[in-house]
Amino acid sequence: MTRPVSSLNVLVTGAGGGMCVGINARLAAAGHTVLCADLNLAAAEAAAERITAAGGRALPFELNVSSDESVAALHAAVSEQVGPIQALVNAAGILDRKYLQDHDTASFQFALDINLTGPFRLIREFGPELVEQGWGRIINISSIAGVTGYHYPSYAASKAGLSNLTRSLLVDFWGTGVTVNSICPGVVDTAMVIQEVRDQVKKKVPTEQIVTPEEIGALAAFLLTDDARSINGADLLIDGGATQVFSLFDR
Ligand SMILES: NC(=O)c1ccc[n+]([C@@H]2O[C@H](COP(=O)([O-])OP(=O)(O)OC[C@H]3O[C@@H](n4cnc5c(N)ncnc54)[C@H](O)[C@@H]3O)[C@@H](O)[C@H]2O)c1
Repeated sequence: MTRPVSSLNVLVTGAGGGMCVGINARLAAAGHTVLCADLNLAAAEAAAERITAAGGRALPFELNVSSDESVAALHAAVSEQVGPIQALVNAAGILDRKYLQDHDTASFQFALDINLTGPFRLIREFGPELVEQGWGRIINISSIAGVTGYHYPSYAASKAGLSNLTRSLLVDFWGTGVTVNSICPGVVDTAMVIQEVRDQVKKKVPTEQIVTPEEIGALAAFLLTDDARSINGADLLIDGGATQVFSLFDR
């Protein structure tokens, strides 16, 4: 199955965030229309403006991934303004820096609701139109924390769940032309990362470099090509080798 159109409509959640600076830019540079959705509408608008200022195509949308109603409203708005999407990048996420005993049930569930149930809501909502077109790409931005574990349990559990959701959806999208993959970044050069961690990364990662948002964007852009058609159900580690050589745990 080959890509139905050369310029795709790509919905990116969390598009106003740090990593999406690179994701949005690389997707737009590949000729795609980037639908920038974020809880923070001003950030989504700024992201879309950055793309259009650079000569690309983008539109901003407000979205709360933890609300069924908001996801349905986004779908209605996107359908009306743009038409069907061909690709979905689930990048909205939060990192709650709490150890087990600092969490109450509500705060733990809040993290899961955004990082895990959020992508589920988006895939359930937009998956059918990908299937109808006989081609589609779903990319979940997970984390190496979901592979190795991490001292912030709500984050690690939500990302492990997201990676396993990715694998599990192979059945739902079997034979449809839609692939589902997770990108698992290591530490990426964004505001989510504190200086102490950046310093550690430079000492401990084999590449001696922090991953850039543009590298994540380049991988996402590749996954939207026909050359990536056999990459399906994968956890794509992009971490400079960190997963192999150091622990994310701080004790
Ligand atoms: N920065 C890293 O080192 C790193 C590493 C691995 C994985 N990740 C993952 O990459 C993704 C992007 O991270 P980032 O560094 O850009 O973080 P960020 O905090 O800069 O961006 C996250 C974006 O998600 C949005 N968001 C939060 N809650 C939302 C909700 N309920 N509905 C819609 N949007 C919401 C925020 O407004 C923000 O714009 C996240 O899923 C994160 O877990 C980041």
